[in-house]
Amino acid sequence: MSKTKINVVVAACNNMGIGINGKLPWRLKQDMAFFKKVTSTTSDPSKKNVVIMGKNTWLSIPAKFRPLSGRLNIVLSTTLTDVPQNVYVVKSLEQAMDLVNSMASTVENVFVIGGASVYKEAMFGSYPCRVYLTRVMGDFICDTFLPQIDETIFTRIPNPGDVPEGELEDNGTKYHFVVFEKKIDI
Ligand SMILES: NC(=O)c1ccc[n+]([C@@H]2O[C@H](COP(=O)([O-])OP(=O)(O)OC[C@H]3O[C@@H](n4cnc5c(N)ncnc54)[C@H](OP(=O)(O)O)[C@@H]3O)[C@@H](O)[C@H]2O)c1
Repeated sequence: MSKTKINVVVAACNNMGIGINGKLPWRLKQDMAFFKKVTSTTSDPSKKNVVIMGKNTWLSIPAKFRPLSGRLNIVLSTTLTDVPQNVYVVKSLEQAMDLVNSMASTVENVFVIGGASVYKEAMFGSYPCRVYLTRVMGDFICDTFLPQIDETIFTRIPNPGDVPEGELEDNGTKYHFVVFEKKIDI
């Protein structure tokens, strides 16, 4: 059986920073809207997408917005206990993917939405992987980083139809969307 593909969705600035003090370093409205659309949309209305995240990313979502609506939320943690009933907590990405595979008939796409170590495992593990990267054109102070996208492993592909082309701007910060696909199984 072929391995389930993981879609990584991430925004990173010039130094590949993605977070600071448990929060996003920026507020980019159109990027948030893109995130919601790409992680929520399914071609089969009877199916849902899955979002997989680490504990800190889960806790960084304001309580009133979690779990992320319309998506099946899976949190990776060895310590978290207090979550709503419809949220799954598992101890590894492998367990998360086993859970996804056990629900395959009701799941369409799988998204890893942070943070750093979960991104790294998704991108450099043995999973087929696509990366939706929001390149934030600026220098922000960060304490959490995305690994560089290794071009011996990933190749940039034309933006699929649901990914906006060209430069966007919010709060004086310019950014654009790029998409990479893993080209070899490692
Ligand atoms: N720019 C973006 O696109 C973006 C996206 C998401 C998040 N962020 C930012 O990134 C920061 C949060 O990321 P982070 O790297 O600090 O934390 P994180 O990956 O969200 O959470 C780390 C915790 O998750 C659990 N965990 C992670 N990987 C695991 C694994 N493979 N197996 C089991 N448990 C695992 C562990 O919790 P236990 O200790 O309980 O085991 C670990 O301490 C925030 O600043 C957030 O705003 C940015």
